[in-house]
Amino acid sequence: MPKTILEVMDLKKHFTDRKGLFHSLGERHPSIPAVDGVSFYIKENETVGLVGESGCGKTTVGRTILRLEKPTSGKILFDGKDITSIPTDELRRLRGQMQMIFQDLDAALNPKMRIRDILSEAITVHHKIDGAEAGKRISDLLEQVSLKKSKLSNFPHELSGGEKRRVGVARVLSVGAKFIVADEPTSALDVSIQAQIVNLLRDLQKRLGLSYLFISHDLPVVELISHKVAVMYLGKIVEIGLSDRIASRAMHPYTHILWSSLVEKQNKENPQKAKSVQADRWGVFDFERPVSGCRFAPRCPVYESSGRPAICIDPSTEPQLEDIGGSHQVACHFPL
Ligand SMILES: Nc1ncnc2c1ncn2[C@@H]1O[C@H](COP(=O)(O)OP(=O)(O)O)[C@@H](O)[C@H]1O
Ligand code: SF4
Ligand SMILES: [Mg+2]
Repeated sequence: MPKTILEVMDLKKHFTDRKGLFHSLGERHPSIPAVDGVSFYIKENETVGLVGESGCGKTTVGRTILRLEKPTSGKILFDGKDITSIPTDELRRLRGQMQMIFQDLDAALNPKMRIRDILSEAITVHHKIDGAEAGKRISDLLEQVSLKKSKLSNFPHELSGGEKRRVGVARVLSVGAKFIVADEPTSALDVSIQAQIVNLLRDLQKRLGLSYLFISHDLPVVELISHKVAVMYLGKIVEIGLSDRIASRAMHPYTHILWSSLVEKQNKENPQKAKSVQADRWGVFDFERPVSGCRFAPRCPVYESSGRPAICIDPSTEPQLEDIGGSHQVACHFPL
């Protein structure tokens, strides 16, 4: 029975919005509930996909789990240990075991350093090894991420997007991380390269026994790589289940819309029309909208078609994730 590598309980991360003139003139800073009570777990060798449209809080979940952000409340257990508020020196040790692949291809690559030095720095920060040993480790890493040795003398700007991503993956592996938050690792890449990176991550998982939180706004990519998929909307998980169930038997109206909007996106014959239909349907994504009951209600076709039942917007009956069998949970009063 694989053990649980990561468990998150009722995790919250609320930001204070400091943007805007009025706020700086002394108005109360509104709180942005970027992550608003998220619970899930990841087993060893498992990939959990986290999907949802831009701004719903996916990156904040990843950053807070890795303690790059301080949680507002809730609990994070890594390998059975409570890491919610461990001190900085322990955090440093933890970084050797859990790492993030950042969405920005250049984020972890110092533009003034050659690839060899970027990797060798990452190795020696976390492991006390000499030059020869580091050289051997770098060769192994290059092989693991299928990058040519000749690239070691290049600077990051001399590499293609796919090559930069491979270096990013190698950097994360170099510290020995076994749990990786991969934040939209394919979003900046051409479609053909995307598939290569997904395959690389899957291959590394098998070979090295890695566990991933795989973040993406792209449901088909998430479904392809994940064992389980969590669908997030405005700071909450609204549906979570085994990947093929979420793909074929989604129960939350939002998950259905995520799938159908992708079909529209792929409607290359009439991209303009597809775009306007989508914009209509999504409306404005607004964290500051007062939450009353189900936060998806303003856009929910089921709520509209069933005559706006009060239970959906009653603040005391905000839908909670409920087990519907088959390791599948949904937060909706009228699951499909
Ligand atoms: N450091 C921050 N300060 C204030 N607001 C933030 C900060 N980081 C993210 N947010 C806000 O939190 C919400 C969720 O952001 P994010 O986690 O980046 O979403 P996603 O990754 O799903 O696109 C957004 O409204 C974003 O503007
Ligand atoms: S609880 Fe009501 S408003 Fe919310 S998703 Fe379900 S049907 Fe729609
Ligand atoms: Mg993000």
